[in-house]
Amino acid sequence: MSQHKYLVTGGAGYVGSVVAAHLLEAGHEVTVLDDLSTGFREGVPAGAAFIEGRVQDAARWLDPSYDGVLHFAAFSQVGESVADPEKYWTNNVGGTMALLAAMRGAGVRKLVFSSTAATYGEPVSTPITESAPTAPTSPYGASKLAVDHMISGESAAHGLAAVSLRYFNVAGAYGTCGERHDPESHLIPLVLQVAQGRRESIAVYGDDYPTPDGTCVRDYIHVADLAEAHLLALDAAEPGNHLICNLGNGNGFSVREVVETVRKVTGHPIPETPAPRRAGDPAVLVASADTAREKLGWKPSRADLAGIVADAWAFARREEQDV
Ligand SMILES: NC(=O)c1ccc[n+]([C@@H]2O[C@H](COP(=O)([O-])OP(=O)(O)OC[C@H]3O[C@@H](n4cnc5c(N)ncnc54)[C@H](O)[C@@H]3O)[C@@H](O)[C@H]2O)c1
Repeated sequence: MSQHKYLVTGGAGYVGSVVAAHLLEAGHEVTVLDDLSTGFREGVPAGAAFIEGRVQDAARWLDPSYDGVLHFAAFSQVGESVADPEKYWTNNVGGTMALLAAMRGAGVRKLVFSSTAATYGEPVSTPITESAPTAPTSPYGASKLAVDHMISGESAAHGLAAVSLRYFNVAGAYGTCGERHDPESHLIPLVLQVAQGRRESIAVYGDDYPTPDGTCVRDYIHVADLAEAHLLALDAAEPGNHLICNLGNGNGFSVREVVETVRKVTGHPIPETPAPRRAGDPAVLVASADTAREKLGWKPSRADLAGIVADAWAFARREEQDV
């Protein structure tokens, strides 16, 4: 395979660091651009060049030697985006506008973008396909949808080869790269914090949903499977085309199933605290990944929930030892 040179924005964060590690393992040259606003310098995989800087200033560093950009840098807390929407428009939309201009200026004509299931909002049917209506219920989802529209325009007008990957619930870890959001809002790391004694119990928001056990069902995708999709997307991207693919396992697991799996993996009893439903939490969010399978040739190989949790647990324990 011929080697390529890629800029990875947000490569000090959770997903970006795992993708950067996969690119390096595939023999590519990687430069991470990250302002460390929510990421960690030590998260950048060894072997990647690192620039501490903002996507808004990408024109300073992008040059024609790059073959493409993988764009992870964004803010991604749904609740925060409701309280502080301008922060999300400024960073997610403004940052990407500057990045696209920098790419145009440098003649870098390939982009893979981290979009999200949050662009769809309340699903009208399940599993969710890419033709489902997009009606985001938060400024975060709206900012990502705006970027998807921006990229479509850039492809059509200026020939960008682009793929947006709409992730569902990313989970698990890959060696030394894992999830450490602050504050943490994702279920698996939160339940693992109970197993570590860092919180007393896990809140279960609503147990009267129309699902088999009454708790919300979500589609958990292993971050390493997700990373592989990014490498396939780089190969599949075509000039003048913007491909949008959902990425999930197509399997839903309920909150109770996740908690039970963490009990099995960690041996901890994990007390639950019942809590009211949260506004805007749909009962079921499951992806149809048919487009990713057909257009990218992607196939998840780590769909087993116990394996996903075990990898996240190994990472959490390693972090604990390092503290
Ligand atoms: N984790 C998930 O479950 C999930 C689901 C759907 C979509 N996404 C998207 O995937 C991407 C990565 O998510 P994550 O969970 O790894 O988040 P993260 O917060 O761990 O990583 C984001 C990284 O971007 C950096 N960053 C933010 N704004 C920047 C800027 N203007 N310039 C330079 N660097 C900047 C942060 O410092 C951080 O290292 C995000 O775009 C997110 O919206 C994540």
